[in-house]
Amino acid sequence: MRGRFITFEGPEGGGKSTHAAILAASLRSRGMEVVETREPGGTPLAERLRALVRENGGDAPSPAAETLIFLAARAQNVARAVRPALERGAWVVCDRFSDSTLAYQGFGRGFDIAALARMDAFATGGLAPDLTILLDVPPEVSAARIASRQSRGGEAADRMELAGAEFHRAVREGFLKLAAMPENAGRFAVVDSSRPQAEVEAEIAAAAARLF
Ligand code: TMP
Repeated sequence: MRGRFITFEGPEGGGKSTHAAILAASLRSRGMEVVETREPGGTPLAERLRALVRENGGDAPSPAAETLIFLAARAQNVARAVRPALERGAWVVCDRFSDSTLAYQGFGRGFDIAALARMDAFATGGLAPDLTILLDVPPEVSAARIASRQSRGGEAADRMELAGAEFHRAVREGFLKLAAMPENAGRFAVVDSSRPQAEVEAEIAAAAARLF
């Protein structure tokens, strides 16, 4: 039997990585094989593309080049990691996927959503998640999270993080619009991630339980 494909989406600062890890651990404790992956990234080549997309300075990727790098990384992750895992019956938990391209490059950067969706379908070969957890946070929370990450000097800030408040507001609204589209009905669980962590965790677990 084919496994299940769960993606985590949302603006920066919603706790995607933390909650993806918590859900993966809880699925493992029920005896499932779980593969955790992230985008851009998830395979050695795709992780190299992640480094490229974060290039800053004079030869930083243009908005179009950046879009194509995200899609190339997705194509590689799907072909080498996600599909093989699903085919052997594993559950796959992925930190960001196609909705990030539509929200950031579409609603954020202004590229045509329908064109992006077609290019994305080429990259994924038509693979779509069974469940997408949208961890929604207000723009002030994202901004504070980005600022604290930068002051700690973690992974180099990417251009997305450096983009202004207006961009991040458009991205957040974009995610909510995607969740409300009729063609996505049933796939999305929108979770208000500004609530206490235990409540957020319980809501995510309940959404995932619908796939058992
Ligand atoms: P993250 O590690 O916080 O998820 O960082 C990935 C960054 O890349 C984040 O700013 C969102 C952005 N991104 C896009 O703009 N488009 C995409 O398709 C993906 C997967 C990520």
